[in-house]
Amino acid sequence: MQEVDEQLFIEDIPVIDLVKEYGSPLFIYSAKEIEGSFQSYKKEIRDQDLICYAVKANSNINILKLLAELGSGFDVVSGNELKRCLLAGADKKKIVFSGVGKSYDEIKLAIENDILSINIESLGEFERILEISKKLNKPTNCALRVNPDIKIDSHKYIETGTKTSKFGLDMESVNKISELSKENDFVNITTVACHIGSQISDENLILKSLDYVRDIADQLSADGHDLKFLDIGGGLGIQYKDEDKGDPKILLTEVKNKLKDSHYQIILEPGRSIVGTSGILLTKVEYIKEAGEKKFAIIDAGMNDLIRPSLYEAWHQVKEVERSEVDMETYDIAGPVCETGDVLAKDRNLRIEPNDYLAFMDVGAYGSVMSSNYNSRLKPQEILVSKDAVKVIKKKESFEDLIALEQ
Ligand code: LLP
Repeated sequence: MQEVDEQLFIEDIPVIDLVKEYGSPLFIYSAKEIEGSFQSYKKEIRDQDLICYAVKANSNINILKLLAELGSGFDVVSGNELKRCLLAGADKKKIVFSGVGKSYDEIKLAIENDILSINIESLGEFERILEISKKLNKPTNCALRVNPDIKIDSHKYIETGTKTSKFGLDMESVNKISELSKENDFVNITTVACHIGSQISDENLILKSLDYVRDIADQLSADGHDLKFLDIGGGLGIQYKDEDKGDPKILLTEVKNKLKDSHYQIILEPGRSIVGTSGILLTKVEYIKEAGEKKFAIIDAGMNDLIRPSLYEAWHQVKEVERSEVDMETYDIAGPVCETGDVLAKDRNLRIEPNDYLAFMDVGAYGSVMSSNYNSRLKPQEILVSKDAVKVIKKKESFEDLIALEQ
């Protein structure tokens, strides 16, 4: 994404040309940006380590394909995310399955497909994995996802590694599962995993969690388990406004230092930092509305398309696609959804008129995947720009799609 002569470009294509051809609202992604972010991890890890992209950040099959071709593995949190990865040609031996609520069928699917590991989050889940493994007569490699009780420097809704969160196992459960898994040949504990949260700018917090999982892995190894991997989750942040972004190089240089004399392989599960900066949401200004002192730009995208501002008070930069020759004014930018919370940005200085286009920046992660059909709004079309070629990677929904399952 770049601006030349007050015009926004994605790779070398003027965004205005794309919106004229594909309409609005529109999600646009840059393949080059995704590749660049992936390589910033890849070039810092050792051959034996694994990047398992967190599919939840953006699960479009075309983006998964792109990442699979670059050698990425995947972190999934549902059977359907797993199926997406398989469709995208992922290497099954590079897939890990996270999440606290895996169903019977999801665990069965994972075991049948011999993925790298199922990350156990509770004693009940261990028992279920054991039961299914026995039934299928297939041993299953598992991770114990632990809870290191580390507080992060991010929004409280996206921290996951503190004692009061629903994620991870406490030490009592770790010890119990360790004992129970030794009694059979069906559940092998090969990994200790954790993920402490998202949008983290301080790499030291993740390094602290590495120390924590490593201590537990050493303890489990001493107890007779064959521990191979330390999974330190995802979580590095990007720069939405003026915050520090996390730096894979700083993180991984220190990870390599810490593991110099150790046999453990590292698994990383980055999501936001791989796809976050690659995407923009294009939207049209429908109306300029004045209400007392306030000026609103009413746009054709809503909280159903990008829920992060309403849900987390998240800040996304907003840029004019082309700058109009009008005075700069301060606007709140609101969508068409019938909710007071449907304001996607506040107090933004813009030169705009009705029918101009705006771009919400850095929506590649947790943008389209969190969209909904609220107010019976159709989800936007999505396109991927790759070396001057443009591909529709998700078609625009139609009214017929919207009601297809209701009749
Ligand atoms: N691994 C696990 C087990 C996770 O739960 C997550 C994210 C990740 C990896 C990837 O984390 P990342 O590298 O993307 O920070 N919807 C929120 C973010 C929720 C993150 C949930 N877990 C947002 O829009 O900010």
